Amino acid sequence: MSLVHVDPIGIDLEVAAGQTVMAAARAAGYGWPTVCDASASCGTCVSIVKEGIDNCAEMPDDERETLARTLVPLDGQRRLACRLTVNGPVTLSKRGVHVTDGSSS
Ligand code: FES
Repeated sequence: MSLVHVDPIGIDLEVAAGQTVMAAARAAGYGWPTVCDASASCGTCVSIVKEGIDNCAEMPDDERETLARTLVPLDGQRRLACRLTVNGPVTLSKRGVHVTDGSSS
């Protein structure tokens, strides 16, 4: 279990090994901006890694392809939350993360 801090909402998410940040957020009752419902195709969930970049897992092919197609720099600091898994503490910046009632994203 790794801790992911998300700004500007200021929440801490517990992310299990192999779990994506977006899945952990949803499980904890938060919505993350998405259009494709976490299928790594819209790019809407892109988030900035502020700290802990070395704790971010390698970028899978579908994430890399979507970032490239949506003209996001492949610098490792911009990651899709619907594909990002972590193996240690990370701090992300993503506007639009919000509390849900548990019935929507
Ligand atoms: S939610 Fe669409 S790419 Fe991540």
